[in-house]
Amino acid sequence: MDKIIIEGKKPLSGSVPISGAKNAVLPIMTAALMGDGTSVITRVPDLRDTRTMIRLMEMVGAGCSYDKGRLEIDASTVHNPEAPYDMVKTMRASFYVLGPLLARFGKVKVSLPGGCAWGPRPVDFHLKGLEKLGAKITLESGYIIAEAKRLQGAEISFEFPSVGATGNIAMAAATAKGTTIIKNAAREPEIVQLCDYLNFMGANITGIGTTRISIDGVDQLHPSDIEVIPDRIEAGTFLMAGALMGEITVEDVNPKQLDSVLLKLKETGCQLSYTTNSVTIAPPETIQPVDMKTGVYPGFPTDLQAQWVALMTLSNGSAMITDTVYHDRFSHIPELNRFGANIKVDQNTAFVRGVDHLVGAPVMSTDIRASASLIIAGLVAKGKTEVSRIYHIDRGYEKIEDKFRSLGAVIHRINE
Ligand code: UD1
Repeated sequence: MDKIIIEGKKPLSGSVPISGAKNAVLPIMTAALMGDGTSVITRVPDLRDTRTMIRLMEMVGAGCSYDKGRLEIDASTVHNPEAPYDMVKTMRASFYVLGPLLARFGKVKVSLPGGCAWGPRPVDFHLKGLEKLGAKITLESGYIIAEAKRLQGAEISFEFPSVGATGNIAMAAATAKGTTIIKNAAREPEIVQLCDYLNFMGANITGIGTTRISIDGVDQLHPSDIEVIPDRIEAGTFLMAGALMGEITVEDVNPKQLDSVLLKLKETGCQLSYTTNSVTIAPPETIQPVDMKTGVYPGFPTDLQAQWVALMTLSNGSAMITDTVYHDRFSHIPELNRFGANIKVDQNTAFVRGVDHLVGAPVMSTDIRASASLIIAGLVAKGKTEVSRIYHIDRGYEKIEDKFRSLGAVIHRINE
């Protein structure tokens, strides 16, 4: 198994290109299954998750070819509307095939995802939404079977603006008969791009980027091409490393999509400057402690909560970090404490008391974003850090060690 080894305390400087967004490309790939022909997706990051999704696309019968960020999906040969347990358990986003395959084939079988490292993560909103659209849903040996001759438009109101459920229902409703209204819809840029893509494919969706999305069903979608938006979570991760370790610029980003993160970074005393597609950060003398609460977009992303905790470990005081989206998402805390951080968790809040310095340690990744927080801590800690189980980080960060090395970090991967 691979490990990442870091010699900490090396200053960072320079520019780093940001990859396409994982959370945008995964649902876009499944949407491409609804067009009877070949779609081309560009700026596809080379991640374990995109590779897993390509495997799933091939299992359902699509032809895929992927080279240097360009992915062709030929959906004309899709014939097997099923996502097996092995796929869904390694990547929950496999559940995104539910809506598109049901819409196209009238029947789909998808393994029910289990719990995850950060809590139960149910999929009830997806299922209730599809039932509202007229699907018959049954559970058989751990698999969801959804059936409907043709889905019927309906009004669906989510208890919480779930990213995945909004995406799944938008895809399913795109070719339903009549109009679907999604109330309390997710507004994340990745969902905005998915809906834009469905429109390129011939769907008729309005209200995109608001909490009320309206979908006038069309008879069919056609293949279409798209370039994936920048990964705001990867960008935020590098900016937080910069806040501690030196002046760096993240390139090819959309600063507007990082608003909530940039505001918080400013409060810590960092200097920030922008162009239309880049952000430069320079660290302050001392990081000021800043409380933070995650929220749905345009709030502070839960996917940057762990990295924010890592940043606050070296602040000049105490900070309270509350996750309102995933209440149990704190598996990084015991690992960060191994560096000498002083963090306690009570319910869904981490209480971080800043320390003078961190000391490198052997630590273990538990999920994608937790791993990123450990890398940030390792970069700023004195001495050597070994991060194990880094397959988690490979799920969501493209060539992270190469990118940090290009900024001056001493970091490499070993295979044991
Ligand atoms: C997506 C992102 C993930 C991010 C999360 C929140 C992808 C592939 N993953 O995950 O990186 O952390 O958004 O921004 O895009 N919920 C229910 N029932 C449901 C669905 C969700 O109770 O049927 C709850 C969840 O437990 C959670 C909240 O709603 O508390 C938000 O989850 P959701 O927005 O659905 O997250 P994902 O789409 O799974």
